[in-house]
Amino acid sequence: MAKSSEASRRVITLPDPAAQAQAAAQRVVTRIAANSGRVAICLSGGSSPKQLFELLATDGYRSRIPWERVHWFTGDERFVPADDHRNNMRMARQAFLDKCAPAANVHPILTDTPTPAEAARRYEDELKSFYGANGFDPARPLFDLVMLGVGPDGHTASLFPGYPAVEETRRWVTEVPEAHVEPFVPRVTLTLPALASCREMMFEASGSGKRAILARVFAGEDLPASRARSEGETVWLLDQAALPENFRA
Ligand code: 6PG
Repeated sequence: MAKSSEASRRVITLPDPAAQAQAAAQRVVTRIAANSGRVAICLSGGSSPKQLFELLATDGYRSRIPWERVHWFTGDERFVPADDHRNNMRMARQAFLDKCAPAANVHPILTDTPTPAEAARRYEDELKSFYGANGFDPARPLFDLVMLGVGPDGHTASLFPGYPAVEETRRWVTEVPEAHVEPFVPRVTLTLPALASCREMMFEASGSGKRAILARVFAGEDLPASRARSEGETVWLLDQAALPENFRA
């Protein structure tokens, strides 16, 4: 395992996606163990976290998670029905939440509202009520852990480059009427300030298809995935194939 630091961002390279998922699962368990109270975890969408999610449902990890006191949120959602195969929370439910987590601890972005804007408002209300305040206190982050992925254009969650949602400073959750990449459905996304309010932000990216965008992110280009930083620790878990040539670990 190779490690490197660049400002407040740490990059950890693992040999392959299986080792990456193990390292990610270990971080989830460690992060939960560090908080003896109510824990809040924000899941990422896309396909990258699937192996990690499935691992959390296996005996070795399942038995180490105090499910009763862990709450699961999502960083973004595609505005499709809850049972649509493109729905992010559906994948997380199928991979581990339905098997392991009490139903009351699963907090999806509801997409049965008339508009994505309404879904965003409701999720913001839900987050504020869970947090118990309307503004972030840096001493008391909203999430213990935020998981994220990166898209080919440098988006993260559903924060696409150049979109107004990236500049949002007041809202915790906002609607994105049109996606920049597939699936081309409206999105609902947490904003950068809401994602930043965490003890740890953990990105996962694997495969050679991620190399080009990671080179741009690590070169410091102004992209949503570069701007997404935790107020605490920001960690990127990559497999060897994803490691860009311009980045020396
Ligand atoms: C989504 C996401 C998105 C995703 C990246 C990476 O809803 O699509 O939350 O930000 O994490 O596009 O996707 P992959 O993991 O599928 O490469």
